[in-house]
Amino acid sequence: MQRILVWDLPTRLFHWLLAASFAGAWLTAESERWRDVHVVLGYTFAGLIAFRLLWGLVGSRYARFSSFVKGPAAVAAYLRSLLGGSPEHHVGHNPAGGWAVVALLALGTATALSGFMTYNDLGGHFMEELHEAAAGAMLALVLVHIAAVVLSSLLHRENLVLAMITGHKRGLLPQAIRRPRWIAGTALAAAVVAFLSAAYQGALPDVVQASAHAERSAHHPHDDDD
Ligand code: HEM
Repeated sequence: MQRILVWDLPTRLFHWLLAASFAGAWLTAESERWRDVHVVLGYTFAGLIAFRLLWGLVGSRYARFSSFVKGPAAVAAYLRSLLGGSPEHHVGHNPAGGWAVVALLALGTATALSGFMTYNDLGGHFMEELHEAAAGAMLALVLVHIAAVVLSSLLHRENLVLAMITGHKRGLLPQAIRRPRWIAGTALAAAVVAFLSAAYQGALPDVVQASAHAERSAHHPHDDDD
């Protein structure tokens, strides 16, 4: 066993940007004053999820859904090994963790879509309630996710948080991915930076940033007169 590259750069960037945008959107959810920030972080979150769904099809070995979405037998065997005190070691996500990833992506999609509809006055009060429920369920799942990461780090005596930062885990040389995918990672980071700076300058279309535009036209009523 040695240190091998497991998580490519786009997967790692996706993860920490997703965690940051979710945390930021959660913290700004209740106040009108921070509404624009909440919405922009919501779009960032949605874009990241869309990217991850694509990367699950075309990304490197351990990022692909086919490598970690396993049937019930594999999940049961993993859970049995966990309860028996000697958990199976998986280089990528373990079979239970794989389903947690699917659940996080599905709930993330529901949260983002219901948020978009609420913001654009589609679906009324029901949609607003749905958005709050989806976000609450997402937070609960994230807390379970963090607890599971800490627990499996302890059980496997391997720091999984550090692995999500450096990309390296313990494994055999032939199990390593060959390239960190610098180009796709840089493109993802550049897209997020470009989106956030356009949002900061208020340069996004109305459907994205309606309240920023409403506020601007309130201050400069003639801007939109043409
Ligand atoms: C301090 C907070 C967090 C820590 C320490 C953390 C840690 C981790 C670690 C270590 C993994 C890899 C698990 C494995 O080895 O199988 C992972 C995966 C994942 N986490 Fe987190 N996480 C955090 C917050 C979040 C949040 C807030 C979200 C969602 C909003 C999230 C969503 C995910 C997803 C979707 C994956 C799968 C990664 C992939 O394959 O693309 N995490 N997390």
